[in-house]
Amino acid sequence: MKTGPWVLAGEAATVRLANVMARLPCMGMKFYFYGDLGSGKTTLVRALLRALGHSGVIRSPTYTLVEPYTLASGIAFHFDLYRMNDPEELELMGVRDYFSLDDLCLVEWAAKAETWLPQPDVRLALDLVHQGRRISIESGTGRGSSWLQSLESLYVP
Ligand SMILES: Nc1ncnc2c1ncn2[C@@H]1O[C@H](COP(=O)(O)OP(=O)(O)OP(=O)(O)O)[C@@H](O)[C@H]1O
Ligand SMILES: [Mg+2]
Repeated sequence: MKTGPWVLAGEAATVRLANVMARLPCMGMKFYFYGDLGSGKTTLVRALLRALGHSGVIRSPTYTLVEPYTLASGIAFHFDLYRMNDPEELELMGVRDYFSLDDLCLVEWAAKAETWLPQPDVRLALDLVHQGRRISIESGTGRGSSWLQSLESLYVP
């Protein structure tokens, strides 16, 4: 299933979308984010982590590749694979365990490790339009598909 494109006219619109996403069951989901540099991936991930209750600092995992967050509902991992050279780095870091049933995985630049990573439940593709951003969302699993259907029924673009 595929939905959008939806225009996110400013950062506030991204936050509003994230707030709706957070009302759906997110734990255990694997969300992969696509889009060029500056297309708004981190902004959406940050807003989602905030909406899921994280109140502390949210660092961009550009050099560490991944940052963990302990949320009330479970553990979330935020990945940024832009600077990763070889998916073998993920293997060595023991990242395969992070993709367990319960963890929420939010992966920026997933295309860098597409062959290594498991199939995402949901793919979110961002691009620039005028002063804002545009997002298209696609499911990759049955679970992702029901999640996306719920999002479509709750979110008013
Ligand atoms: N919906 C939006 N409308 C307008 N500007 C936005 C929107 N979302 C994010 N931005 C702005 O775009 C810039 C880049 O955002 P962000 O860092 O989230 O992009 P990114 O896709 O994570 O980039 P990178 O690939 O470099 O990590 C920031 O200055 C942010 O404020
Ligand atoms: Mg980013």
